[in-house]
Amino acid sequence: MTRPATPSTRYTGFAIFMHWLVALAIFCIVPLGAYMHDLPLSPTKLQLYSYHKSLGICILLLVIIRLLWRYGHKPPALPASMSAKEQMIAHAMSHGMYLLLITSPLTGWLMSSFFGKPVVVFGLFQVPDLVAPSEDMGKLFATLHMLSNFTLATMITLHILASLKHHFKDKDDVLARMLPFLARNR
Ligand code: HEM
Ligand code: HEM
Repeated sequence: MTRPATPSTRYTGFAIFMHWLVALAIFCIVPLGAYMHDLPLSPTKLQLYSYHKSLGICILLLVIIRLLWRYGHKPPALPASMSAKEQMIAHAMSHGMYLLLITSPLTGWLMSSFFGKPVVVFGLFQVPDLVAPSEDMGKLFATLHMLSNFTLATMITLHILASLKHHFKDKDDVLARMLPFLARNR
């Protein structure tokens, strides 16, 4: 199958903008989280924790906006060249990633709340504590945060590999219609 010069179906400009904004934020927050975690206690470590938590809250907000938008804007249909099974896996991947994009920040926020640590977003405002402090629950949510992050990172890796396969092997328009430089206003 040859790649059409102009894709017939596209994501809206807003969906494309939000996809790449969240992707950029994730590409920053995951290495930041892994790096800060291993640092010895210092003012730099505390500052990085604060940036990490702030960015995480922003991601949560962006993903909620993105999901609300998606609710009213159906994504374009997948190419007919994909089998029913492939389409089912693609949909499950999208839904799974959205779920993890909520559970990762939420488990982080709950962990901080259980540990009684305030979450101040870029020094501007403090988000409310979600729960009363509890050291044991804090440890549980630290583990859940790690599990959610690991699963998210694995799914994103598979997601990127699948997008590249569509583009270079299947030569369909799945990647092109999510690229900003081909975006058209709708
Ligand atoms: C999409 C959002 C987020 C992602 C992908 C993410 C990712 C990570 C990663 C990769 C780590 C390193 C170790 C681990 O996996 O536990 C980490 C640690 C951490 N995250 Fe997040 N995070 C997110 C949001 C948040 C939020 C919103 C908060 C709090 C408000 C938060 C608080 C923390 C804390 C306190 C640690 C350190 C845990 C420790 O040192 O044991 N994270 N995060
Ligand atoms: C942190 C990184 C990323 C996250 C969290 C992410 C997440 C998502 C999600 C949730 C969707 C579903 C959109 C919807 O239907 O509403 C999606 C679609 C898509 N993403 Fe990503 N993505 C990331 C990075 C990338 C990268 C690096 C590429 C390209 C190499 C890519 C290519 C695509 C494509 C082509 C689609 C549309 C698939 C379709 O038409 O069904 N994504 N992404």
